[in-house]
Amino acid sequence: MSANLKSAATIAPPRQKDLNILFAISEADPLVKIGGLGDVGGALPLALSRIPPEQLGGVHLNIRLILPYHTPLKNNLLKTQWITNVKVPTAGSPVKAQVYQTSLGDLPVYLIDGAPVSDLSSVYGDDPVKMAEKFTFFSLASLRFIRKLKWPVDVLHAHDWHAALFPYGIETLFKVHPVFKNTLKIISIHNLPYLGEKSAKVLQHYLLPPSTDENLPDWARLLPFPLGLQASDRIIAVSPTYAREILTPEFGSGLEGFLKTRADQITGILNGIDTSRWNPSTDDSIARRFSVESIADRRYNRAALLAEFDLAEDPNIPLLTIIGRLDYQKGVDLALEALQQIATQPWQLIILGTGNSDLEKVCRDLQAKYPQKVRAVIRFDAALSRRLYAGADMLLMPSRYEPCGLAQMIAMRYGCIPIGRATGGLKDTIQDASSAVGTGFLFKEASAASLLAALNIAFQRFKDKATWLEMQKRGMKQDFSWEKSSYEYAKIYLNKGVGGR
Ligand code: GLC
Repeated sequence: MSANLKSAATIAPPRQKDLNILFAISEADPLVKIGGLGDVGGALPLALSRIPPEQLGGVHLNIRLILPYHTPLKNNLLKTQWITNVKVPTAGSPVKAQVYQTSLGDLPVYLIDGAPVSDLSSVYGDDPVKMAEKFTFFSLASLRFIRKLKWPVDVLHAHDWHAALFPYGIETLFKVHPVFKNTLKIISIHNLPYLGEKSAKVLQHYLLPPSTDENLPDWARLLPFPLGLQASDRIIAVSPTYAREILTPEFGSGLEGFLKTRADQITGILNGIDTSRWNPSTDDSIARRFSVESIADRRYNRAALLAEFDLAEDPNIPLLTIIGRLDYQKGVDLALEALQQIATQPWQLIILGTGNSDLEKVCRDLQAKYPQKVRAVIRFDAALSRRLYAGADMLLMPSRYEPCGLAQMIAMRYGCIPIGRATGGLKDTIQDASSAVGTGFLFKEASAASLLAALNIAFQRFKDKATWLEMQKRGMKQDFSWEKSSYEYAKIYLNKGVGGR
């Protein structure tokens, strides 16, 4: 190339091209959030839309979200606008859907309403058949709406079983329709064991055929999540370790054999956290703000927390916390069992969360049994979670499985050292203290004994204040921002999207 041509090529403005991405998910914070899925739904689309097109060869990611118009959302005084109605055919009479629009930052969000959605008073319910109806209807009504909108979808990104019938619906019902014929179908696994149980009859009622894929076990051929995995071109697990774990019987929910046949299309991408919202140097909810440089100020938060809960303040007694959903996945029972075995040793524990009613009771009972050391706060309280991250010494996460996990990343950012089981995202984000770059403590088996061994090491280490401080600082300096991960997603979107249209 001559010098002239070369400079002309660099001067010419890059041709910008839009890549249309439909982000189908059940939760997106702050519109609706029940768990970690909501954090991802609220943060990832925005992070993606902020990637400068120059970094993507001139491609602008044009993202729109689509969610069910969950009943609790209707009480949120959300600004919405009705756009249109569609009808979803079934074996009986068609079911009517109403489509509304709102926004997340400056991204359009479509909300799908209709009887199967408004029948449930909460986001999720206890009746699996009602859940199946809600999410099957949501998926098929959404596809019909997009078809009516004539918005060519370059990339469909569906999340978990709730949106798994998007890819399957495209494959079985709309494959040749111009709006979907070039769609790259991607599904993210946030929590594999929730497959969408007891859906078979509902799927048939909504005219969805069973899968004929011989690699899928028979029992999975009319179940939403397996169908979505089968119909998608790419499968993303929310951490590299989880991407490997789901290929094994322990974590594969019976689909490990099938997933192995798709191993080439499976990628693990770690979730990020919203580092501007989770920032101890700007956090309004904590007693004293601090940063790595002013980490000594963290002790005011610790003292305030202990005073708030009427627990003794002693720098030599480790203050532990458990934050989040109280359920067996999170191994809450293992933590309580391990701590009872060392009940005569000095430690304190504050539990914050709701969930399984048996576990909630065990937490309350523990407080009743050890009133000088345990507090069980059985509720959802975002501000208190911040005070706990900012004041506690250690966060316990003995998860039986943890696709990614966010609490351990937030904890590190707030100088609270995580003790986690070496699984999924915990393994990918926590460096064990045995290494020179340790940021927390990891243990192998999902057992109270294994956790106890890690606790003993952590308590020992806690006595060495200088080493502890170094570990806290290392944790605070980790980069858990969405920037890196969203770029990984964008690369997958671009894989086909650009050439395909
Ligand atoms: C689910 C998983 C959790 C993950 C979250 C977001 O809640 O249990 O590990 O962090 O989804 O991907």
